[in-house]
Amino acid sequence: MSSKLDRMKALREQTLVGGGPERIAAQHKQGKLTARERIDLLLDEGSFVELDRYVEHQCDSFGMGAKKVPGDGVVTGHGTIDGRPLFVFSQDFTVWGGSLGAAHAQKICKVMDQALKVGVPVVGMNDSGGARIQEGVAALGGYADIFLRNTLASGVVPQLSAIMGPCAGGAVYSPAITDFVTMVEGTSYMFVTGPNVVKTVTHEQVTSEDLGGATVHASKSGVAHFTAPTDADALALLRRLFSFLPLNNREDPPRRKNGDEPDRESPELDTLVPENPNKPYDMHQVIRAIVDAGDFLEVHDKFAKNLIVGFARLDGRPIGIVANQPAHLAGVLDIDASLKGARFVRFCDCFNIPLVVFEDVPGFLPGVAQEHGGIIKHGAKLLYAFCEATVPKITVITRKAYGGAYDVMNSKHVRGDLNLAWPTAECAVMGAAGAVEIIFNRQIAAAADPKAEKEKLTAEYLERFANPYEAARRGFIDDVIEPRTTRRHLSRALALLKTKHDSNPPRKHGNLPL
Ligand code: HXC
Repeated sequence: MSSKLDRMKALREQTLVGGGPERIAAQHKQGKLTARERIDLLLDEGSFVELDRYVEHQCDSFGMGAKKVPGDGVVTGHGTIDGRPLFVFSQDFTVWGGSLGAAHAQKICKVMDQALKVGVPVVGMNDSGGARIQEGVAALGGYADIFLRNTLASGVVPQLSAIMGPCAGGAVYSPAITDFVTMVEGTSYMFVTGPNVVKTVTHEQVTSEDLGGATVHASKSGVAHFTAPTDADALALLRRLFSFLPLNNREDPPRRKNGDEPDRESPELDTLVPENPNKPYDMHQVIRAIVDAGDFLEVHDKFAKNLIVGFARLDGRPIGIVANQPAHLAGVLDIDASLKGARFVRFCDCFNIPLVVFEDVPGFLPGVAQEHGGIIKHGAKLLYAFCEATVPKITVITRKAYGGAYDVMNSKHVRGDLNLAWPTAECAVMGAAGAVEIIFNRQIAAAADPKAEKEKLTAEYLERFANPYEAARRGFIDDVIEPRTTRRHLSRALALLKTKHDSNPPRKHGNLPL
């Protein structure tokens, strides 16, 4: 027996070294951790249970038959974060650049299948050169097997991706289907094809960083939701993100009270909104003043800054916040903000996370670039997302609620459960100056003193519409509240709405305006 145990131990030892000490040293030299070190940092200490450590590829092309590495370049299994279970896979760049062959794919598919059956999230740590070239179509098939599972698991269990190295080809499409993508700054890239292929095909000269680095994807393409300076920071961020999420779509997200009283007032909010409607203020201040201990995990913080989205807690209950940002482009809704908001709203709706909206929006961004870029269909995505969402939905209008944006931002008409306004709210089709010019153009032109006439009409318009009471009289606003009491109102509403039940008509699926 002891010799059999020894053999088992020896074989196990072999599975731990991946591509060998030299390649591990090269990985460390670049500031990257190994696949196993990443798993250890992500999961609770000692909780990792490995599966399939002996799996090897079956490929014999290009001399591969003589080269086998146990585990085939990916470490898979399950463990816990703060005692809550999840499945993980972590690609090992030291083994053929983390490239994906049939056996490697099979291992990932196994944990995804089990995660779906058990009803727990999957975290993927990606560090891969894409389809393993030597395996040809078997590798492509492996990717397709993963894409199918990513899609079937979407909206059933949360799927989180960390990009921790140069990910190319198929290695980017699986993360792109998952719910959140986190990239490590300086060492991770995502591109369909790398700079060399780009040079051949389009004759463009570009570095990996400029083509698909963390900064590019976090600020320009919006592919990355988060970035982190190091592998360790990225994994700590994933643990934090995990704490807001339920294990699956049948559970509520976990409540964690931290002693911040739900009735706590925020007196500073009474004077935060400037008298001058054209003056900005930072909506982050509103969010931080209201949520538990000011703790806000912002998603996409470098992309479409005119809309803020992210997770926080109120009286311990996780919420998804969607807020216009008057300090950036006056909080206008453009293509990027619509896409960012729609994706976030749909995620929260999938996973029973109540939505809280802070609204100060002058409308959709006008202009040729936006129209030709499809602001109509992209804005429609945000509208669609709020309309179809059945989770508890609360809106607080802090200032402007103009035009189509009034409707979109979780208005009463699209099934807002509680719609509140601060006394500074203005619900109108558009701002006073534009409105007066359109509806009184003849009257102003005919006046003896057109400037004075315009000023008089603008003042009348402001008196009539630059307030929340016209909407409140119609029941479109449930109450006008003192800003300092917002936390109390929201906490009570969330407690009440805990048992909310709403549904959409039966159908295969809706047709989101893509
Ligand atoms: C087999 C691969 C590989 C791959 C890397 N390696 N990518 N082996 N298949 N796809 C191997 C290298 O040969 C090398 O082995 C080791 O991994 C490390 O790679 P390096 O190139 O030395 O590392 P680095 O300079 O850091 O560059 C990393 C890289 C580059 C940017 C990922 O290797 C690269 O461009 N690889 C190809 C990327 C690509 O085009 N993939 C697309 C595949 S098609 P040795 O033994 O020399 O150390 C695809 C289609 C799926 O994925 C479509 C789904 C929709």
